[in-house]
Amino acid sequence: MADTQVLVASNRGPVSFSLADDGTLSMRRGGGGLVSALAGLSGDILWICATLSDADRAAARRVADGRLDVPDVGAVRMLDIPAGTFHRAYNAVANSTLWFVHHMLFDTPNKPHFDARSRRDWQSYEAYNAAFADALARDASPGAKIAVQDYHLALVPTLLRERRPDVKITHFSHTPWAPPEYYRLLPDDIGRQVLEGILGADHAGFQTERWAEAFLDCCAAVLRASVDRRARTVSHRGHVTRVGVHGLGVDGDALRARAAEPDVTARAAALREQVGDRRLIVRIDRTELSKNIVRGLAAYRELLAKHQEWHGRVVHLAFAYPSRHDLPEYREYTAAVQRIAAEISDEFGRDSWDPLILQVNDDYPRSLAAYGMADVLLVNPIRDGMNLVAKEGPTLSRNGCALVLSGEAGAAGEMCDDAIMVNPYDVTQTAEALHQALLMPPDERAERCKRLAEAATALPPQRWLADQLAALR
Ligand code: F6P
Repeated sequence: MADTQVLVASNRGPVSFSLADDGTLSMRRGGGGLVSALAGLSGDILWICATLSDADRAAARRVADGRLDVPDVGAVRMLDIPAGTFHRAYNAVANSTLWFVHHMLFDTPNKPHFDARSRRDWQSYEAYNAAFADALARDASPGAKIAVQDYHLALVPTLLRERRPDVKITHFSHTPWAPPEYYRLLPDDIGRQVLEGILGADHAGFQTERWAEAFLDCCAAVLRASVDRRARTVSHRGHVTRVGVHGLGVDGDALRARAAEPDVTARAAALREQVGDRRLIVRIDRTELSKNIVRGLAAYRELLAKHQEWHGRVVHLAFAYPSRHDLPEYREYTAAVQRIAAEISDEFGRDSWDPLILQVNDDYPRSLAAYGMADVLLVNPIRDGMNLVAKEGPTLSRNGCALVLSGEAGAAGEMCDDAIMVNPYDVTQTAEALHQALLMPPDERAERCKRLAEAATALPPQRWLADQLAALR
């Protein structure tokens, strides 16, 4: 790998900036699978990402060519995308349209609704993708390997191939992929353009068989492309794309080392002080519609209503990271989560027992502490590409936690034998699963949790990326 240059392109990069009143910029390093994946590579690596805020834009302008050297990550180029273009591409197209299609989230009478304004948004999405393709075309050495990430950058593979036919391109979808009946919600030309954009890659990767099959189905149904299901290839306009399944897992050693740091131990001690020796049901999410937090809390309410033996003996820790609050749907969803949480506390809480602790803020060490302490981990998305919470929890569990898991999470395929599986829409079934999880004998819980942790760490990020790059040979 050392002799081939590798470029990674993603919307969100490994660093973000904040700007103090006196104009000083401070840099914050992010975590996540891609950062760990790159740590496993050596040689010439460049990560190209978007500027996500005014502070990022200021930082990109202050360094030559927007190129930064980030400790432990390497060279990062932040593209100085104009704020309006970025807003329309990221919020209006990527997160309000493509995300909603792949997660099958549209449920209001007047949405989706594609009009003249949507066309202008789409042009911004094209411009934003073209900015990435231009930067990659300029920075790539002859024969470089390019790993393009996710629905934000669906058009990049084809735009890049037009500019640089010599490079090898892989695209990875971290989300689910919608079946053709739902995908057809998109205007015909946009639906075609997204598929044809990804088909510019030599290899298109997905988290699970199910999402890969849905992509092949869309290529056949929408583009009438020639799909070979046995070889898992799509031929379209004289180019062949191989489709692969690469389910992202967690880096167990790195995660455990991070969880052993003093900020995590301090959070664990504070939480223990707060909840005493009560049993803990934990959930950790972004405040995201697809995560199904409201139905999860409704299930907890039903558990408390039906099984009063748990009153005073269990606490639900619901920790949520604020997400995409530029979008009204997300702000309204967060408010709905807060409303039902307050109702549960009012209905069941007493002076000596708060049944639910909901916190909506950004606190990674607190999440790691909660994983370590959980008796039950609830992961109930209505649809999810993989869901790494389902993998991080068992990996960090100290006493062996029971996992209540939605069958619609990508992680279900690898974890269904040892998790208690639920239909995410079935609140009563989820309530009973929580009850069953709380009652599970400690030995059984520990054994299942050990197997879940093995499944969770089976394809760590370093190998996940290396496999995709190897598929480009
Ligand atoms: O695949 C979805 C994804 O891009 C994840 O990689 C990430 O966890 C999440 O969405 C974050 O979204 P955003 O960058 O909009 O906060």
